[in-house]
Order: sequence, then structure tokens, then C-alpha cells
Amino acid sequence: MSKVGVAGGSGFPDTEETTFFPAMDVKKVNERLTAAGQSHLLQFIEDVGEQERAELLRDLGGMDLQEINGFFHNAMKVSDHIKQEKVDERMEAVPREVLGSVTRDRDRLKDWEKEGLHRISQSKVAVLLLAGGQGTRLGVSYPKGMYDVGLPSHKTLFQIQAERILKLQRLADERFKTKCSVPWYIMTSGRTMDSTKEFFARHNYFGLKKENVIFFQQGMLPAMDYEGKIILEGKGKISMAPDGNGGLYRALGSQHIVDDMERREIGYIHVYCVDNILVKVADPTFIGFCVQKGADCGAKVVEKTNPTEPVGVVCRVDGRYQVVEYSEITLATAEKRSPDGRLMFNAGNIANHFFTLPFLRDVVNIYEPQLQHHVAQKKIPYVDMQGRLIKPDKPNGIKMEKFVFDIFQFAKTFVVYEVLREDEFSPLKNADSQNGKDNPTTARHALMSLHHRWVLTAGGHFIDENGTRVPAIPSLKDLTDLPIKCEISPLVSYGGEGLESIVKGREFHPTLIIDETGVHELVKNGI
Ligand code: UTP
Repeated sequence: MSKVGVAGGSGFPDTEETTFFPAMDVKKVNERLTAAGQSHLLQFIEDVGEQERAELLRDLGGMDLQEINGFFHNAMKVSDHIKQEKVDERMEAVPREVLGSVTRDRDRLKDWEKEGLHRISQSKVAVLLLAGGQGTRLGVSYPKGMYDVGLPSHKTLFQIQAERILKLQRLADERFKTKCSVPWYIMTSGRTMDSTKEFFARHNYFGLKKENVIFFQQGMLPAMDYEGKIILEGKGKISMAPDGNGGLYRALGSQHIVDDMERREIGYIHVYCVDNILVKVADPTFIGFCVQKGADCGAKVVEKTNPTEPVGVVCRVDGRYQVVEYSEITLATAEKRSPDGRLMFNAGNIANHFFTLPFLRDVVNIYEPQLQHHVAQKKIPYVDMQGRLIKPDKPNGIKMEKFVFDIFQFAKTFVVYEVLREDEFSPLKNADSQNGKDNPTTARHALMSLHHRWVLTAGGHFIDENGTRVPAIPSLKDLTDLPIKCEISPLVSYGGEGLESIVKGREFHPTLIIDETGVHELVKNGI
């Protein structure tokens, strides 16, 4: 059975519970396709085997072609509009009163953290992982969360995140004498669902309770050429892709996830991406800040320091919050500076968000249909008129995606929380071979360099192979230098806390691993 589910109105992501339209006969399907200008999709139907044919008919039967055509026309219209009109004149930077900052509000951090931990201890906080992407740039055949970036422990991204949740539950329980849980909602796509579930089951949910790890599936949409024709990637196979991380909102409704959150009496949701190795899952300080500000929606950001860095910035446009992409503004605006010397539009979006459940429910029930798809031009393999598979070397069509941040505009009280990039953001996007940026090596180095700093801050020291103390290196430089090999299990420390009793006044040889079984120095022990 093919695994194509669609995001179109009549189709739902493909789960066991999903009822698809019964396979219609070729004639009926052809009539619908002709009416929608998509009759080419059956041009090779006589050439394909029985099973492929049945799957194609079934997939087409489950698609709302008129809706998909509508998505295409709207997305192209919006994309043309964006190309023509820069938003510079309508942009305002995030005002200080809605901004929290780990560097500028140091005196408030403990208080926010306590507030967040308190909500966590009451089991009011859930985390929602966006893991439905295809990971094309990384180029592995399995879900990105299963990737091992080569840490001394060889933990995968999923395991690191699971252990952070476990530790946070323990910290909240210790502090407030409770027995809490932080449900973990994991959004996958048709292509990643089975392997993700199987991976978690095989690893016994990394110590979390099975019932608190909830998988759900986002929708898929067909890729289209520039004329709005759906692309065939095989004679009997439509080219499908997940409908963007903003496909979240439709999936939350169709997969009854909001209902599940309500049943569990969740109040706050932390949403994040699978590929950030430094992510502070359910960060209590961020949650506490948003709660104390009475926000219904919040965005964690890192400072954009280079005007030409292609990162979207959080700002207001015509009085409403949104993320403005680098391509939507002129260089002059990107280069504008505030009196303090920082870039004026410096709130770099890292797809790390806070929502209250009532806000999320309104988004799912009311606002989602108003969100427009964005257009991503891609090189999409296709079969030509002669039925040959062509792999184009330049973009030949589009994928349509909604973005998770598209809903900021609906927030009544929106806040922004600024954190340090070297402490909290290092995404895994590319393979090592491709690009010196955002790859397994930079992710591994970012984590080890953070843990190195934790040891130094807690009063520990490192010595090199000659027995000389390694000087404490400024954190920012660490990201380009080769870091000290040091890894601390999230089960020992969530954010650098609790290490003094283990490391203070001690000297360590790298590679240093600190986990629940103790302190291990691999070189010293000849390992
Ligand atoms: P990216 O846009 O970086 O995409 O996703 P990706 O799939 O990881 O990588 P490429 O572009 O194919 O190389 C940012 C986050 O959004 C999630 C991803 O899993 C990642 O956590 N995402 C993306 C979804 O959940 N669904 C989508 O449809 C797209």
C-alpha cells in the first residue's frame, strides 16, 4: 500500500484509522482530473502494474484537486507579490517591553525559571516536536532525529531530547515535591512515521512513559510545475512532499491532538525543531517568562549579528508580528543599526515557540484556513512525456509549505525571548561533505563546547596531554576552534546545573564523559 496521504480538504494524513475514498474506476477519476486540468496524471496508467495502478487511483481519489489548484494559485500570487514589494517601510523592530533577554534581564531569570518549573511540576506543559521534514540536505534515508552526530556517547538527537525531558521532570518533581509528566507530541510525515515509531519502541522510549510519547502525522501535498500541473515522479506515482512545518496546525485538528492536550489539561506548549542539538526542550525560563508576561504566543530568538545572514527576523509589519525573511527586505534595512550598535532587526527566528492551549485551539479551529502556502522552488525529478525519469539540474517546479511561525499575526499578546546562539542553537541541516555550516561536525562541536563551558563555570579544569592546564577559552571562539571533548548526559544536567559537586576543583583529561554512572576520562583510562 502506498503511503501517500494528502493535506487537501478531503484527504487526511495516512494513518491506520484513515478512511480513503474507495478506488474509483479510471473513467471516473479521469473526469475529475480533466475538470481540474490534471488529466496528464493518468497518461501512463496502461503501462503500470496492477498494484501501482490501484495505488495511484486510490491516491488521486483521496485528493481534493480543486483545493490543491486553489493552494497553487494563491501561493503563486503571494509569492509574486512578495517578489515585487519589499516590506521595509512597514517594519518595526521588537519593542523592549515585549522582549526578555538572557543577557539583559539576568536578575529575572531565576524567577522565570521557577515559574516555568512550577507549571511543569503541575503537568501543565507539553512539548511538540516538528520532525516531519525530509532532511534532503542531510541526505540520509532515515528520520533526522535518528542521526548520531558522533558524540562520545553516540546518542542520537531523539535520545538527547528525550533525556532532557526526563531530567526536567525530575528537576520539577524535586523542587515542588510532585510526580509530573511532560507529554511529548512528535509530528512526523508519511515518510518518517513508521521508522520513527519503531525507533522509539526499540529504545524503550528512552525511559519516558510510552503513553506520554504521542506520534501524529502531518499532511502531504503534490509538487507542481510552474503551470500548476501536478508532477509525476514515476509513471504511476505522484511526487509528494510534507506540507511544511506549518502543516502542524491542520494535523493538530485532523489527528485530534488538541483534544488529547485538553484531556490532559495542558496549559502551555513548547514547539521546536528536531535538528537543533542544543535545544532546551520545555525550557522553564522561557515558559516562565511567557507565562509571567501573560503571552498567548512567544518566540525564542537569537541575535542576528551579520546583516547578510539569510535568517528570518521577528518584527512587526503593519503592527502585527511576523517573521520577515532576508529576501523580503533591502540590504539597507538589513544593515540598519540601533543606537546601541546592534542590528535594528536582529531577532533571528529559530522556530522555537511557546503557545497557550487556548491560542493553539483557536489557530486550529479558526485561523488555519487563512494561512497561505509559501512557494519553495525545487529540482523535482519527473517523468517526461515519453515516460523517462528526468533529474533536473535547475529548479523546475514548486513545493507548497506553510510555516510554523505564520500564526504570530493572530496572537493577542506576543512576546520575544532572546537567548545566546552558542548556548541554544546549532541546527543540523547539511552533510559534512557539503557545507562548512550547520553540519554534524558543527553540531557536535557546539554541544561539546557548551559542556566544556559548563565544567569551567562549575569550577572544573581541563589538562592537556602534557599535564598543563588548558586555558579557559572564550565561548564564541570555541565554535570555530576544535573543542575540548566533553559530554555531559542530560540525565546529569539539563542546563549546566548540579555540576559543582562533581567537578569543582578537579582536573580532567579529555575525553570527559559525565553520565549517571559517573565521571569517565576515556584517554586516561586508555579507552
Ligand atoms: P527544514 O526546513 O530545515 O527542513 O525543517 P528539513 O526537512 O529538516 O531539511 P531539508 O530542507 O529537506 O534539507 C525545519 C524543521 O521543520 C520540520 C523539520 O523536521 C525540522 O525540524 N519540518 C519541516 C516538518 O516538521 N515538516 C515539514 O514539512 C518541513
